[in-house]
Amino acid sequence: MFDPFEMHPEDKESMSSKKLVADVVVGLQFGDEGKGKVTHQLVKNGNYTHVVRYNGGCNAGHTIYHNGKKFVTHHVPAGVFYGIRSVIGPGCVINPKKLFEEIKELEDGGVEVRKYLKIAANAHIITDFHVAEDSRDTDIGTTRTGNGPAYRDKYARKGVMAIEIPELEEMIVDMYTEIHENPEFSRVEILCEGAQGFGLDIDWGEYPFVTSSHCTTSGVIANGIPHSSIRDVWGVAKVYETYVGAKDFEDNDDEVFEQIREAGSEFGATTGRPRQVSWMSIDMIKKSIKINGANKIVFNKADILDEVGVWCIYDGMDAHEFETAEDMEQWILHEIEEPDFLVFSRSPEEI
Ligand code: IMP
Ligand code: MG
Repeated sequence: MFDPFEMHPEDKESMSSKKLVADVVVGLQFGDEGKGKVTHQLVKNGNYTHVVRYNGGCNAGHTIYHNGKKFVTHHVPAGVFYGIRSVIGPGCVINPKKLFEEIKELEDGGVEVRKYLKIAANAHIITDFHVAEDSRDTDIGTTRTGNGPAYRDKYARKGVMAIEIPELEEMIVDMYTEIHENPEFSRVEILCEGAQGFGLDIDWGEYPFVTSSHCTTSGVIANGIPHSSIRDVWGVAKVYETYVGAKDFEDNDDEVFEQIREAGSEFGATTGRPRQVSWMSIDMIKKSIKINGANKIVFNKADILDEVGVWCIYDGMDAHEFETAEDMEQWILHEIEEPDFLVFSRSPEEI
């Protein structure tokens, strides 16, 4: 068994004296990399006082297996599965109706949510108008959940904040007080749960085929969690690439991608749409590791390529094919500059 929290002794010392420490989980590709699984496992093994969702809204679909049961979360951070305070941060947008449906679904499945779920007063609201507008989208291939229009209105200074919604009142917290001045905690340790991924980021993704929020580590800081508190950044990728939206992957008519889609159940957790499949781009992985400052890397779904029996990676325009999974993994290890931790995961339930 690995210890995901293993650190250099000097880092351990300096972090252990801090009153606020944060680890981050970010997507290195186009979302659906398995961030939910990684977050869930870190919460289980860790010592967190809080889990904070820092971007996005109910466009996200995080698939989580808890006690053998499958759950899909949209707004709710994964801390609730282990009774940890879970905050929907100021960088997020919320559809209250959908949130209450999600809470009910989780509670019907035996997960206590209301006791632990908090909402930052300055998170923004997705209104029925936003959903109606987004449902007419044909250009971007959005999840049609009203995400983009809600962020647009936030930045146009015409948005509605969570604190204005009476139904949310009992869950509302002030983010500053919650993490910097909270008398309940002598030390605050946060796991920051990202949504979507680098290729969908508003600044770094393939604009305009992007989402409307900051999916990278930069988004964490905007939630009031200072850079100096960040300890580990967990970059999560799949050993192949998927994307769902209006842009076409160049080579997605190849039959092997169809096999991967079936073997990997690559259908949207929020929309059910089939995801386009391609080989992993090592250039994108390297770039997103650097821009996110990721020091711990998880490659998910290595078992799917094992099942299909083809191992391939794009290096620029060249497709490198490998004889075995091990050959591919060695090659990746060589390409990525010495992360503190790296794993190829073959289980949907744990790293
Ligand atoms: P929006 O976030 O609904 O505006 O959609 C913009 C783009 O991001 C579309 O290509 C969506 O399919 C994609 N997208 C949004 N959220 C997710 C997600 O959680 N996983 C994967 N793709 C997503
Ligand atoms: Mg998803």
